[in-house]
Amino acid sequence: MSKSKQVLVTGGAGYIGSHTVVSLVNANYKPIILDDFSNSNPQVIEGIQDILQESITYYRGDCRDWDLVSSIFNEHQFDGVIHFAASKAVGESVEQPLRYYGNNLDSLMVMLRAVEQFKVPNLVFSSSCTVYGQPDHLPVTEETERKPAASPYGNTKKISEDIIFDVVGSAANLKAVSLRYFNPIGAHPSAKIGELPLGTPNNLIPFVTQTAAGIRDVLTVFGDDYNTPDGTCIRDYIHVMDLSDAHVRSLTYLEEQSESSYYEVFNLGTGKGTSVMEVIKSFQEVAGVPLNYRVGPRRSGDIEQIFASVKKAEKALNWKALKTMKQALADTWKWQQAISKIP
Ligand code: NAD
Ligand code: UD1
Repeated sequence: MSKSKQVLVTGGAGYIGSHTVVSLVNANYKPIILDDFSNSNPQVIEGIQDILQESITYYRGDCRDWDLVSSIFNEHQFDGVIHFAASKAVGESVEQPLRYYGNNLDSLMVMLRAVEQFKVPNLVFSSSCTVYGQPDHLPVTEETERKPAASPYGNTKKISEDIIFDVVGSAANLKAVSLRYFNPIGAHPSAKIGELPLGTPNNLIPFVTQTAAGIRDVLTVFGDDYNTPDGTCIRDYIHVMDLSDAHVRSLTYLEEQSESSYYEVFNLGTGKGTSVMEVIKSFQEVAGVPLNYRVGPRRSGDIEQIFASVKKAEKALNWKALKTMKQALADTWKWQQAISKIP
């Protein structure tokens, strides 16, 4: 068997990063994690190792720390970098813009400097469908115009995409993709890793499962007077394992490109929109427990509806989201029950 290609995974102990590490190993890559655990727990590494039944190399540290980053790049000859590390809470970014611009942009700059200096050919970047704002037409394709960002967090994703575009265009030997995730949900089917929101969750699915588990009293549906069939907002929820597989496919895709400099953007979703009420109904069916919810006012900053056109990713990456919404909800519920048992 040929020697595994080494891939640096920044933020590899986080929600999407940890699942991607599992997918990378299963595809015969050797992922090396760099994470400062600012929004994750070192126990995640144990969960990953438990699933894989092998040890994973990881570094605890900040990917803005050039001395650390350059020592890691000296130690390993990377074929690629998957850059997940970022701060991601939208509301918090409005309150602490400097922290968000600082972390998200500085960490990208350090990674770009490292891939250039150490001649690493491939970069996969975590972007977000937030760059589209409320699109005028649905589904959104990669050609849909990006709207002015509604939050400093969203702006960091937009600016980061532009920075990567410019760096690739400057004749650097770098091939890169920005992956625009829609709404990642679900957990590894083993329930050994999943999303670990710190404090009160902002996102719908962790709030649903925590309410069902009795950690929260009631789920508030943020508005039922939108111009949608049942009045609640519509999103494109994608299973985190499908998302992880798309990262592996993206790396392979970049390796296959014959040009030395290359940049592409892909939507990663299912192509299907689901309303908040449909999520609640599906969850109750899957979990077999009633969910205490009430309809409240709209949440400021929410868009009415968005879902992806995923034709470009399906064709180029030879990838497709395979898992259903119900599987994602069942896996999240299993994960919620597993972590609820931890004292
Ligand atoms: P997460 O917070 O679970 O994971 C991010 C990880 O990065 C955490 O483990 C954190 O400790 C680490 N980290 C943050 N700053 C760091 C730094 N400077 N140095 C080292 N480690 C650092 O988030 P996630 O949901 O896994 O998201 C991963 C990426 O995907 C982020 O860039 C996020 O903005 C993007 N994204 C997420 C979603 C989503 O809904 N989860 C949607 C769109 C885009
Ligand atoms: C949010 C962010 C987005 C980010 C994504 C992942 C905003 C405006 N958008 O997306 O930029 O990329 O998280 O971190 O914050 N809902 C309820 N009750 C709840 C929670 C949510 O009804 O308690 C509804 C929301 O109104 C929305 C849907 O559920 O319609 C999904 O919400 P959420 O999981 O927070 O994701 P987004 O808002 O799509």
